[in-house]
Amino acid sequence: MNYNLAEFQASYGLASQLPASDRPEFVFSGRSNVGKSSLINKLCNRKNLARVSATPGKTATINFYRVDKIYFVDLPGYGYAKVSGAERHRWDQLINRYFDEMRQRAILVQLLDSRHAPSADDMQMLEYLEYHRIPFIVALTKGDKLKKSQVEATKKEFRQICMPFGCQEVFLTSADNGQGVEELRSFLEKCLEVQE
Ligand code: GTP
Ligand code: MG
Repeated sequence: MNYNLAEFQASYGLASQLPASDRPEFVFSGRSNVGKSSLINKLCNRKNLARVSATPGKTATINFYRVDKIYFVDLPGYGYAKVSGAERHRWDQLINRYFDEMRQRAILVQLLDSRHAPSADDMQMLEYLEYHRIPFIVALTKGDKLKKSQVEATKKEFRQICMPFGCQEVFLTSADNGQGVEELRSFLEKCLEVQE
């Protein structure tokens, strides 16, 4: 797969607008500010493919990127405290309708901040993924912020938390220094081979 062949397709605020499922999809999920857009950019060797925001919670849309022969699907970040009840409801509807649709989901990448224990919203997301039997892996983000001495213990802790929910693998990544990104790419490609 050629990650350099990446282009933004569109942002969808309503599930009814979603494009036809005409190719496999890698889905990226995580709380606001966890680093979804940054990781997508890093995977595609791009600076500004996906918009990186200093102010979280701005984009309650599902963003589609065409990358070679697949889609990257950037789900709207959750857990942003300042959103209203109405916005939260819209988020729930958008996500539920997306997962209700029969689509060619190859794997979901659940992003968790490597520096913090998962939030209540993160745990709810893990439960959601398990309940709906959505195949997923975890990408721990901002790994560059960890001390070398913390790396192994952090991976172990997150494995212990995530594996019981059906998580297939945990990767420690950084969009800053690129650690873990090549391993993540290899895993994604393996998922595609299984699909074909
Ligand atoms: P929303 O779109 O609001 O849901 O956020 P997001 O999950 O897409 O996060 P985004 O990629 O916009 O990054 C949020 C902030 O974290 C930005 O200030 C990034 O520069 C920073 N960030 C993302 N990834 C990394 C990383 O690997 N290392 C470090 N040090 N900072 C990161
Ligand atoms: Mg984003």
